[in-house]
Amino acid sequence: MFGKRTNITPGTPPATLKPAASPAAPAPEVRREEAKPAAASAPLAAMRKSTPPPVQASPQRSDQYYQTKSMIFGAMIESIDLSQLAKLDSASARDELRDVITEILALKNVAMSISEQEDMLDDICNDVLGFGPLEPLLARDDIADIMVNGADRTFIEVAGKIQLTNIRFRDNAQLMNICQRIVSQVGRRVDESSPICDARLLDGSRVNVIAPPLAIDGAALTIRKFKKDKLTLEQLTKFGSISPEGAEVLKIIGRVRCNTVISGGTGSGKTTLLNCLTRYIDEDERIITCEDAAELQLQQAHVVRLETRPPNLEGQGAITMRDLVKNCLRMRPERIIVGEVRGPEVFDLLQAMNTGHDGSMGTIHANSPRECLARMEAMIAMGGYSLPPKTVREMITSSVDIIVQAQRLRDGSRRITHITEVMGMEGDVIVTQDLFVFDIQGEDANGRVLGKHKSTGIGRPRMWERARYYGDDKRLAAALDAAEVRDERVA
Ligand SMILES: Nc1ncnc2c1ncn2[C@@H]1O[C@H](COP(=O)(O)OP(=O)(O)OP(=O)(O)O)[C@@H](O)[C@H]1O
Ligand SMILES: [Mg+2]
Repeated sequence: MFGKRTNITPGTPPATLKPAASPAAPAPEVRREEAKPAAASAPLAAMRKSTPPPVQASPQRSDQYYQTKSMIFGAMIESIDLSQLAKLDSASARDELRDVITEILALKNVAMSISEQEDMLDDICNDVLGFGPLEPLLARDDIADIMVNGADRTFIEVAGKIQLTNIRFRDNAQLMNICQRIVSQVGRRVDESSPICDARLLDGSRVNVIAPPLAIDGAALTIRKFKKDKLTLEQLTKFGSISPEGAEVLKIIGRVRCNTVISGGTGSGKTTLLNCLTRYIDEDERIITCEDAAELQLQQAHVVRLETRPPNLEGQGAITMRDLVKNCLRMRPERIIVGEVRGPEVFDLLQAMNTGHDGSMGTIHANSPRECLARMEAMIAMGGYSLPPKTVREMITSSVDIIVQAQRLRDGSRRITHITEVMGMEGDVIVTQDLFVFDIQGEDANGRVLGKHKSTGIGRPRMWERARYYGDDKRLAAALDAAEVRDERVA
Protein backbone atom coordinates (compact mmCIF):
# COMPACT_ATOMS: atom_id res chain seq x y z
CA MET A 1 0.00 0.00 0.00
CA PHE A 2 2.72 2.48 0.88
CA GLY A 3 5.51 1.23 -1.34
CA LYS A 4 8.05 -1.52 -0.71
CA ARG A 5 9.70 -1.56 2.69
CA THR A 6 12.13 -3.83 4.45
CA ASN A 7 13.27 -4.35 8.04
CA ILE A 8 10.36 -2.75 9.81
CA THR A 9 10.59 -3.35 13.53
CA PRO A 10 7.54 -1.99 15.28
CA GLY A 11 8.29 0.78 17.69
CA THR A 12 11.98 1.06 16.92
CA PRO A 13 13.36 4.46 16.04
CA PRO A 14 14.51 4.88 12.44
CA ALA A 15 18.03 3.72 11.67
CA THR A 16 18.97 7.17 10.41
CA LEU A 17 18.08 8.95 13.61
CA LYS A 18 21.18 10.84 14.55
CA PRO A 19 22.15 12.83 17.57
CA ALA A 20 22.58 16.58 17.28
CA ALA A 21 25.65 17.06 15.12
CA SER A 22 26.91 20.31 16.45
CA PRO A 23 26.79 22.55 19.46
CA ALA A 24 24.00 25.03 19.72
CA ALA A 25 23.78 27.44 16.81
CA PRO A 26 23.02 31.09 17.40
CA ALA A 27 19.79 31.48 19.28
CA PRO A 28 17.04 32.85 17.13
CA GLU A 29 15.60 35.13 19.74
CA VAL A 30 16.84 38.68 19.62
CA ARG A 31 15.92 41.96 21.14
CA ARG A 32 14.08 44.54 19.18
CA GLU A 33 15.21 48.08 19.48
CA GLU A 34 12.42 50.02 17.95
CA ALA A 35 10.91 53.25 19.09
CA LYS A 36 7.60 52.61 20.79
CA PRO A 37 4.63 54.33 19.12
CA ALA A 38 4.62 57.89 20.34
CA ALA A 39 1.65 59.82 21.67
CA ALA A 40 -0.45 61.67 19.10
CA SER A 41 1.00 65.03 20.09
CA ALA A 42 4.66 63.93 19.81
CA PRO A 43 6.70 65.40 16.96
CA LEU A 44 6.82 63.35 13.79
CA ALA A 45 10.53 62.62 14.18
CA ALA A 46 9.90 60.87 17.47
CA MET A 47 7.39 58.59 15.78
CA ARG A 48 9.91 57.30 13.26
CA LYS A 49 11.87 54.15 14.00
CA SER A 50 15.34 55.05 15.20
CA THR A 51 17.97 53.81 12.73
CA PRO A 52 20.56 51.80 14.65
CA PRO A 53 24.20 52.67 13.93
CA PRO A 54 26.08 50.30 11.60
CA VAL A 55 27.67 47.30 13.31
CA GLN A 56 31.47 47.19 13.18
CA ALA A 57 31.96 44.19 10.93
CA SER A 58 35.46 45.33 9.95
CA PRO A 59 37.97 47.67 11.64
CA GLN A 60 36.99 51.35 11.58
CA ARG A 61 39.21 53.08 8.98
CA SER A 62 39.93 56.71 8.22
CA ASP A 63 39.87 58.47 4.85
CA GLN A 64 43.67 58.75 5.22
CA TYR A 65 43.81 54.94 5.33
CA TYR A 66 41.87 54.63 2.08
CA GLN A 67 44.14 57.19 0.39
CA THR A 68 47.26 55.29 1.44
CA LYS A 69 45.73 52.03 0.33
CA SER A 70 44.87 53.44 -3.07
CA MET A 71 48.45 54.78 -3.44
CA ILE A 72 49.90 51.34 -2.58
CA PHE A 73 47.49 49.72 -4.99
CA GLY A 74 48.60 52.02 -7.81
CA ALA A 75 52.28 51.31 -7.15
CA MET A 76 51.63 47.58 -6.90
CA ILE A 77 49.82 47.39 -10.23
CA GLU A 78 52.77 49.13 -11.89
CA SER A 79 55.34 46.84 -10.34
CA ILE A 80 53.83 43.34 -10.67
CA ASP A 81 51.63 41.37 -13.01
CA LEU A 82 48.61 40.50 -10.89
CA SER A 83 47.38 37.86 -13.32
CA GLN A 84 50.50 35.78 -12.53
CA LEU A 85 49.45 35.66 -8.90
CA ALA A 86 46.37 33.67 -9.81
CA LYS A 87 48.65 30.82 -10.86
CA LEU A 88 50.09 30.46 -7.37
CA ASP A 89 48.39 28.71 -4.49
CA SER A 90 46.80 31.14 -2.08
CA ALA A 91 49.48 30.90 0.64
CA SER A 92 52.34 31.57 -1.79
CA ALA A 93 50.39 34.37 -3.50
CA ARG A 94 49.76 35.98 -0.11
CA ASP A 95 53.50 35.74 0.78
CA GLU A 96 54.45 37.24 -2.59
CA LEU A 97 52.03 40.15 -2.13
CA ARG A 98 53.22 40.79 1.40
CA ASP A 99 56.80 41.14 0.17
CA VAL A 100 55.79 43.59 -2.56
CA ILE A 101 53.60 45.69 -0.26
CA THR A 102 56.25 45.87 2.46
CA GLU A 103 58.75 47.04 -0.16
CA ILE A 104 56.36 49.73 -1.45
CA LEU A 105 55.69 50.96 2.09
CA ALA A 106 59.43 51.28 2.69
CA LEU A 107 60.11 52.97 -0.65
CA LYS A 108 57.29 55.49 -0.28
CA ASN A 109 58.33 56.15 3.28
CA VAL A 110 54.86 55.58 4.68
CA ALA A 111 54.79 55.91 8.45
CA MET A 112 52.63 53.16 9.90
CA SER A 113 52.64 51.12 13.08
CA ILE A 114 53.23 47.38 12.77
CA SER A 115 49.58 46.59 13.49
CA GLU A 116 48.39 49.16 10.91
CA GLN A 117 50.76 47.60 8.38
CA GLU A 118 49.42 44.12 9.14
CA ASP A 119 45.86 45.37 8.75
CA MET A 120 46.72 47.02 5.42
CA LEU A 121 48.46 43.85 4.18
CA ASP A 122 45.46 41.71 5.03
CA ASP A 123 43.09 44.19 3.47
CA ILE A 124 45.01 44.36 0.18
CA CYS A 125 45.50 40.58 0.06
CA ASN A 126 41.73 40.19 0.52
CA ASP A 127 41.11 42.61 -2.35
CA VAL A 128 43.54 40.99 -4.74
CA LEU A 129 43.16 37.33 -3.84
CA GLY A 130 39.84 37.07 -2.08
CA PHE A 131 36.53 38.83 -1.99
CA GLY A 132 37.79 42.15 -0.62
CA PRO A 133 35.67 43.77 2.09
CA LEU A 134 33.40 40.72 2.10
CA GLU A 135 36.14 38.48 3.52
CA PRO A 136 35.53 39.22 7.23
CA LEU A 137 31.82 38.56 6.70
CA LEU A 138 32.41 35.33 4.81
CA ALA A 139 34.68 34.11 7.60
CA ARG A 140 31.94 34.46 10.22
CA ASP A 141 29.70 31.49 10.88
CA ASP A 142 26.96 33.35 12.72
CA ILE A 143 25.81 35.27 9.63
CA ALA A 144 22.86 33.82 7.70
CA ASP A 145 22.72 36.31 4.83
CA ILE A 146 24.97 39.01 3.39
CA MET A 147 23.17 41.66 1.36
CA VAL A 148 25.23 44.24 -0.54
CA ASN A 149 23.22 47.15 -1.94
CA GLY A 150 25.84 49.01 -3.98
CA ALA A 151 29.31 49.98 -2.77
CA ASP A 152 28.30 51.87 0.36
CA ARG A 153 25.70 49.70 2.07
CA THR A 154 26.11 46.14 3.24
CA PHE A 155 23.60 44.45 5.51
CA ILE A 156 23.88 41.15 7.33
CA GLU A 157 21.36 38.92 9.03
CA VAL A 158 22.48 37.67 12.41
CA ALA A 159 20.19 35.75 14.78
CA GLY A 160 17.16 36.58 12.70
CA LYS A 161 17.80 40.34 12.64
CA ILE A 162 18.99 42.43 9.70
CA GLN A 163 21.78 44.89 10.58
CA LEU A 164 23.62 47.56 8.61
CA THR A 165 27.42 47.06 8.73
CA ASN A 166 30.31 49.46 8.28
CA ILE A 167 31.60 47.44 5.29
CA ARG A 168 32.28 49.69 2.29
CA PHE A 169 33.65 48.95 -1.14
CA ARG A 170 36.07 51.43 -2.71
CA ASP A 171 33.55 52.12 -5.45
CA ASN A 172 31.01 50.33 -7.62
CA ALA A 173 33.78 49.15 -9.92
CA GLN A 174 35.46 47.25 -7.08
CA LEU A 175 32.12 45.73 -6.11
CA MET A 176 31.52 44.62 -9.71
CA ASN A 177 35.03 43.13 -9.83
CA ILE A 178 34.32 41.07 -6.76
CA CYS A 179 30.95 39.96 -8.12
CA GLN A 180 32.69 38.92 -11.31
CA ARG A 181 35.35 37.04 -9.37
CA ILE A 182 32.66 35.16 -7.45
CA VAL A 183 30.65 34.11 -10.46
CA SER A 184 33.68 33.25 -12.59
CA GLN A 185 34.45 30.47 -10.10
CA VAL A 186 31.48 28.62 -11.49
CA GLY A 187 32.26 29.59 -15.08
CA ARG A 188 29.71 32.37 -15.37
CA ARG A 189 29.88 36.05 -16.27
CA VAL A 190 28.10 39.10 -14.98
CA ASP A 191 28.17 42.44 -16.77
CA GLU A 192 25.87 44.86 -18.54
CA SER A 193 25.00 42.38 -21.24
CA SER A 194 24.13 39.57 -18.79
CA PRO A 195 23.32 41.44 -15.59
CA ILE A 196 21.59 38.66 -13.62
CA CYS A 197 23.55 35.72 -12.33
CA ASP A 198 23.18 32.89 -9.81
CA ALA A 199 26.30 31.20 -8.55
CA ARG A 200 27.74 29.34 -5.64
CA LEU A 201 30.86 30.00 -3.58
CA LEU A 202 33.33 27.16 -3.15
CA ASP A 203 32.02 26.61 0.38
CA GLY A 204 28.50 26.04 -0.99
CA SER A 205 27.02 29.47 -0.17
CA ARG A 206 24.27 30.55 -2.57
CA VAL A 207 24.94 33.78 -4.48
CA ASN A 208 22.78 36.08 -6.59
CA VAL A 209 24.10 39.12 -8.42
CA ILE A 210 22.08 41.72 -10.26
CA ALA A 211 24.23 44.36 -11.87
CA PRO A 212 23.61 47.84 -13.31
CA PRO A 213 21.74 49.01 -15.29
CA LEU A 214 19.09 46.74 -13.76
CA ALA A 215 20.28 47.53 -10.24
CA ILE A 216 20.09 51.29 -10.24
CA ASP A 217 22.46 52.16 -7.36
CA GLY A 218 25.29 49.73 -8.09
CA ALA A 219 25.41 45.95 -8.11
CA ALA A 220 23.20 44.13 -5.60
CA LEU A 221 24.84 41.01 -4.27
CA THR A 222 22.99 38.56 -2.02
CA ILE A 223 24.71 35.64 -0.33
CA ARG A 224 22.93 32.95 1.69
CA LYS A 225 25.79 31.63 3.78
CA PHE A 226 26.20 27.89 3.74
CA LYS A 227 26.07 26.39 7.21
CA LYS A 228 28.41 23.43 7.46
CA ASP A 229 26.68 22.24 10.57
CA LYS A 230 23.08 22.27 9.54
CA LEU A 231 20.53 22.83 12.26
CA THR A 232 18.86 19.70 13.59
CA LEU A 233 15.35 19.19 14.95
CA GLU A 234 16.89 18.95 18.43
CA GLN A 235 18.37 22.43 17.99
CA LEU A 236 15.14 23.84 16.56
CA THR A 237 13.40 22.47 19.66
CA LYS A 238 15.98 24.13 21.90
CA PHE A 239 15.38 27.46 20.11
CA GLY A 240 11.63 27.11 20.65
CA SER A 241 10.95 26.83 16.89
CA ILE A 242 8.93 23.69 17.62
CA SER A 243 7.80 21.85 20.74
CA PRO A 244 9.52 18.53 21.60
CA GLU A 245 6.32 16.65 20.78
CA GLY A 246 5.92 18.52 17.49
CA ALA A 247 9.51 17.60 16.64
CA GLU A 248 8.80 13.94 17.39
CA VAL A 249 5.80 14.03 15.05
CA LEU A 250 8.00 15.60 12.35
CA LYS A 251 10.53 12.79 12.77
CA ILE A 252 7.74 10.26 12.29
CA ILE A 253 6.46 12.17 9.23
CA GLY A 254 9.97 12.02 7.75
CA ARG A 255 10.36 8.33 8.40
CA VAL A 256 6.94 6.89 7.52
CA ARG A 257 7.00 8.32 4.02
CA CYS A 258 4.34 11.00 4.25
CA ASN A 259 4.33 13.17 1.13
CA THR A 260 5.30 16.49 2.65
CA VAL A 261 5.32 20.07 1.48
CA ILE A 262 7.19 22.63 3.54
CA SER A 263 5.68 26.04 3.11
CA GLY A 264 7.07 29.40 4.22
CA GLY A 265 8.14 32.88 3.20
CA THR A 266 11.63 33.94 2.11
CA GLY A 267 14.28 32.94 4.60
CA SER A 268 11.71 31.41 6.96
CA GLY A 269 13.73 28.21 7.35
CA LYS A 270 12.15 25.96 4.69
CA THR A 271 15.36 24.43 3.41
CA THR A 272 16.64 23.95 6.96
CA LEU A 273 13.46 22.12 7.88
CA LEU A 274 13.54 20.00 4.73
CA ASN A 275 17.10 19.04 5.59
CA CYS A 276 16.00 18.12 9.13
CA LEU A 277 13.19 15.88 7.85
CA THR A 278 15.45 14.04 5.43
CA ARG A 279 17.57 12.86 8.37
CA TYR A 280 14.81 10.48 9.34
CA ILE A 281 14.64 8.72 5.98
CA ASP A 282 15.81 5.12 6.31
CA GLU A 283 19.29 4.26 5.12
CA ASP A 284 18.15 1.76 2.50
CA GLU A 285 15.98 4.14 0.45
CA ARG A 286 17.08 5.51 -2.90
CA ILE A 287 16.71 9.28 -2.74
CA ILE A 288 17.03 11.76 -5.60
CA THR A 289 17.33 15.46 -4.80
CA CYS A 290 16.65 18.25 -7.33
CA GLU A 291 17.78 21.76 -6.45
CA ASP A 292 18.62 25.07 -8.07
CA ALA A 293 21.74 25.33 -5.93
CA ALA A 294 22.66 22.27 -3.89
CA GLU A 295 21.98 23.19 -0.26
CA LEU A 296 20.64 19.96 1.21
CA GLN A 297 23.02 17.69 3.06
CA LEU A 298 21.59 14.23 3.14
CA GLN A 299 23.37 11.79 5.39
CA GLN A 300 22.24 8.61 3.66
CA ALA A 301 24.53 6.61 1.38
CA HIS A 302 22.12 6.10 -1.51
CA VAL A 303 21.54 9.66 -2.71
CA VAL A 304 21.74 11.13 -6.21
CA ARG A 305 22.01 14.92 -6.20
CA LEU A 306 20.85 16.88 -9.24
CA GLU A 307 21.09 20.60 -9.94
CA THR A 308 19.35 22.76 -12.54
CA ARG A 309 21.41 24.70 -15.10
CA PRO A 310 20.76 28.25 -16.28
CA PRO A 311 20.93 29.04 -20.01
CA ASN A 312 24.29 30.00 -21.50
CA LEU A 313 25.01 33.43 -22.98
CA GLU A 314 23.17 32.53 -26.18
CA GLY A 315 20.14 31.60 -24.10
CA GLN A 316 20.64 27.88 -24.83
CA GLY A 317 21.11 24.77 -22.77
CA ALA A 318 18.93 25.54 -19.76
CA ILE A 319 17.89 22.53 -17.69
CA THR A 320 14.86 23.43 -15.64
CA MET A 321 13.56 21.98 -12.41
CA ARG A 322 10.80 20.40 -14.43
CA ASP A 323 13.34 18.61 -16.66
CA LEU A 324 15.08 17.26 -13.56
CA VAL A 325 11.92 16.08 -11.82
CA LYS A 326 10.72 14.37 -15.02
CA ASN A 327 14.08 12.71 -15.45
CA CYS A 328 14.05 11.54 -11.84
CA LEU A 329 11.09 9.35 -12.60
CA ARG A 330 13.29 7.30 -14.95
CA MET A 331 15.93 6.84 -12.29
CA ARG A 332 14.00 4.43 -10.07
CA PRO A 333 13.72 6.81 -7.16
CA GLU A 334 12.04 5.80 -3.93
CA ARG A 335 11.83 9.38 -2.75
CA ILE A 336 12.16 12.60 -4.71
CA ILE A 337 13.19 15.71 -2.78
CA VAL A 338 12.74 19.03 -4.58
CA GLY A 339 14.62 21.93 -2.98
CA GLU A 340 12.18 24.56 -4.12
CA VAL A 341 9.00 24.05 -6.14
CA ARG A 342 8.40 27.26 -8.06
CA GLY A 343 6.52 26.41 -11.20
CA PRO A 344 5.01 23.71 -13.35
CA GLU A 345 7.33 21.05 -11.90
CA VAL A 346 4.74 20.84 -9.14
CA PHE A 347 2.64 18.76 -11.55
CA ASP A 348 5.41 16.20 -11.97
CA LEU A 349 6.18 16.13 -8.26
CA LEU A 350 2.52 15.55 -7.39
CA GLN A 351 2.36 12.79 -9.95
CA ALA A 352 5.46 11.20 -8.48
CA MET A 353 3.93 11.41 -5.00
CA ASN A 354 0.85 9.75 -6.37
CA THR A 355 2.56 6.93 -8.19
CA GLY A 356 4.57 5.01 -5.68
CA HIS A 357 7.20 7.51 -4.63
CA ASP A 358 5.67 8.27 -1.28
CA GLY A 359 7.75 10.20 1.13
CA SER A 360 8.63 12.75 -1.54
CA MET A 361 9.11 16.28 -0.28
CA GLY A 362 9.48 19.83 -1.50
CA THR A 363 9.31 23.43 -0.34
CA ILE A 364 6.94 26.13 -1.58
CA HIS A 365 6.83 29.89 -0.97
CA ALA A 366 3.55 30.57 0.82
CA ASN A 367 2.43 32.20 4.04
CA SER A 368 -0.04 29.60 5.32
CA PRO A 369 -1.00 26.01 4.57
CA ARG A 370 -4.14 27.29 2.78
CA GLU A 371 -2.10 29.64 0.65
CA CYS A 372 0.28 26.78 -0.09
CA LEU A 373 -2.59 24.75 -1.55
CA ALA A 374 -3.68 27.73 -3.65
CA ARG A 375 -0.07 28.22 -4.85
CA MET A 376 0.08 24.62 -6.00
CA GLU A 377 -3.11 25.12 -7.99
CA ALA A 378 -1.71 28.29 -9.54
CA MET A 379 1.58 26.58 -10.42
CA ILE A 380 -0.23 23.76 -12.17
CA ALA A 381 -2.08 26.38 -14.21
CA MET A 382 1.32 27.94 -15.08
CA GLY A 383 2.22 24.67 -16.79
CA GLY A 384 -0.52 25.30 -19.32
CA TYR A 385 -2.82 22.51 -18.15
CA SER A 386 -6.43 23.48 -18.51
CA LEU A 387 -7.85 21.06 -15.99
CA PRO A 388 -11.04 21.86 -14.09
CA PRO A 389 -10.20 23.29 -10.63
CA LYS A 390 -11.86 20.34 -8.93
CA THR A 391 -9.63 17.85 -10.76
CA VAL A 392 -6.53 19.85 -9.79
CA ARG A 393 -7.62 19.91 -6.15
CA GLU A 394 -8.31 16.19 -6.22
CA MET A 395 -4.85 15.65 -7.58
CA ILE A 396 -3.36 17.73 -4.76
CA THR A 397 -5.34 15.99 -2.03
CA SER A 398 -4.52 12.54 -3.30
CA SER A 399 -0.82 13.40 -3.40
CA VAL A 400 0.07 15.64 -0.46
CA ASP A 401 -0.28 14.26 3.06
CA ILE A 402 1.29 16.96 5.21
CA ILE A 403 2.03 20.68 5.00
CA VAL A 404 4.55 22.05 7.48
CA GLN A 405 4.46 25.83 7.73
CA ALA A 406 7.60 27.78 8.67
CA GLN A 407 7.53 31.46 9.50
CA ARG A 408 10.00 34.17 10.39
CA LEU A 409 8.15 36.24 12.96
CA ARG A 410 8.43 40.00 13.33
CA ASP A 411 10.98 39.67 16.15
CA GLY A 412 13.30 37.70 13.87
CA SER A 413 12.62 34.32 15.49
CA ARG A 414 11.74 31.41 13.22
CA ARG A 415 8.91 29.10 14.21
CA ILE A 416 7.10 26.15 12.80
CA THR A 417 3.58 27.53 12.96
CA HIS A 418 1.56 24.62 11.58
CA ILE A 419 1.79 20.90 11.06
CA THR A 420 -1.27 20.34 8.93
CA GLU A 421 -2.77 17.24 7.33
CA VAL A 422 -4.49 17.33 3.96
CA MET A 423 -7.62 15.27 4.54
CA GLY A 424 -9.54 15.17 1.25
CA MET A 425 -12.30 17.07 -0.51
CA GLU A 426 -15.69 18.23 0.62
CA GLY A 427 -17.52 19.35 -2.49
CA ASP A 428 -15.08 21.61 -4.29
CA VAL A 429 -13.09 22.49 -1.19
CA ILE A 430 -9.90 20.89 0.13
CA VAL A 431 -10.25 19.93 3.78
CA THR A 432 -7.24 20.23 6.06
CA GLN A 433 -6.67 19.42 9.71
CA ASP A 434 -4.04 21.07 11.93
CA LEU A 435 -2.15 18.76 14.28
CA PHE A 436 0.04 21.46 15.83
CA VAL A 437 -0.17 25.24 15.67
CA PHE A 438 1.86 28.08 17.12
CA ASP A 439 -0.48 30.31 19.03
CA ILE A 440 0.76 33.93 19.19
CA GLN A 441 -0.29 35.64 22.41
CA GLY A 442 1.31 39.06 22.11
CA GLU A 443 4.76 40.49 22.64
CA ASP A 444 6.90 41.33 25.66
CA ALA A 445 8.54 44.65 26.55
CA ASN A 446 11.54 43.86 24.36
CA GLY A 447 9.40 43.21 21.31
CA ARG A 448 9.79 39.44 21.54
CA VAL A 449 6.79 37.55 20.25
CA LEU A 450 5.13 35.55 22.99
CA GLY A 451 3.31 32.36 22.14
CA LYS A 452 3.31 28.62 22.45
CA HIS A 453 3.02 25.53 20.35
CA LYS A 454 -0.23 23.71 20.94
CA SER A 455 -1.56 20.41 19.77
CA THR A 456 -5.10 20.59 18.44
CA GLY A 457 -6.08 17.48 20.37
CA ILE A 458 -6.38 15.19 17.35
CA GLY A 459 -5.82 11.72 18.76
CA ARG A 460 -6.06 9.79 15.50
CA PRO A 461 -4.57 11.79 12.66
CA ARG A 462 -4.96 10.71 9.07
CA MET A 463 -1.35 9.56 9.02
CA TRP A 464 -2.16 7.00 11.70
CA GLU A 465 -2.56 4.07 9.30
CA ARG A 466 0.67 4.92 7.63
CA ALA A 467 2.47 5.15 10.97
CA ARG A 468 1.09 1.77 11.92
CA TYR A 469 2.22 0.26 8.62
CA TYR A 470 5.75 1.39 9.41
CA GLY A 471 5.52 0.33 13.04
CA ASP A 472 5.61 3.88 14.40
CA ASP A 473 2.02 4.13 15.67
CA LYS A 474 3.02 3.81 19.33
CA ARG A 475 5.55 6.59 18.96
CA LEU A 476 2.92 8.75 17.27
CA ALA A 477 0.37 8.08 20.00
CA ALA A 478 2.94 8.84 22.69
CA ALA A 479 3.90 12.15 21.06
CA LEU A 480 0.29 13.27 20.63
CA ASP A 481 -0.59 12.26 24.21
CA ALA A 482 2.46 14.04 25.61
CA ALA A 483 1.50 17.18 23.68
CA GLU A 484 -1.96 17.17 25.25
CA VAL A 485 -0.60 16.67 28.74
CA ARG A 486 1.79 19.55 28.24
CA ASP A 487 -0.97 21.82 26.88
CA GLU A 488 -3.03 21.12 29.99
CA ARG A 489 -0.05 21.79 32.23
CA VAL A 490 0.72 25.19 30.72
CA ALA A 491 -2.92 26.21 30.22
N1 LIG B 1 14.42 27.59 13.40
C1 LIG B 1 15.50 28.32 13.14
N2 LIG B 1 16.12 29.03 14.11
C2 LIG B 1 17.19 29.78 13.85
N3 LIG B 1 17.73 29.93 12.62
C3 LIG B 1 17.16 29.27 11.61
C4 LIG B 1 16.01 28.43 11.80
N4 LIG B 1 15.66 27.92 10.61
C5 LIG B 1 16.53 28.40 9.71
N5 LIG B 1 17.44 29.19 10.29
C6 LIG B 1 18.53 29.93 9.63
O1 LIG B 1 17.90 30.89 8.79
C7 LIG B 1 18.57 31.02 7.55
C8 LIG B 1 17.60 30.79 6.41
O2 LIG B 1 17.15 29.45 6.45
P1 LIG B 1 16.75 28.64 5.14
O3 LIG B 1 17.80 28.72 4.09
O4 LIG B 1 16.34 27.29 5.60
O5 LIG B 1 15.47 29.48 4.69
P2 LIG B 1 14.58 29.33 3.37
O6 LIG B 1 13.16 29.53 3.80
O7 LIG B 1 14.88 28.05 2.68
O8 LIG B 1 15.09 30.58 2.54
P3 LIG B 1 14.88 30.89 0.96
O9 LIG B 1 13.46 31.31 0.82
O10 LIG B 1 15.83 32.00 0.71
O11 LIG B 1 15.21 29.62 0.23
C9 LIG B 1 19.71 30.00 7.60
O12 LIG B 1 20.88 30.67 7.94
C10 LIG B 1 19.31 29.05 8.70
O13 LIG B 1 20.44 28.49 9.35
MG1 LIG C 1 15.52 27.68 0.74
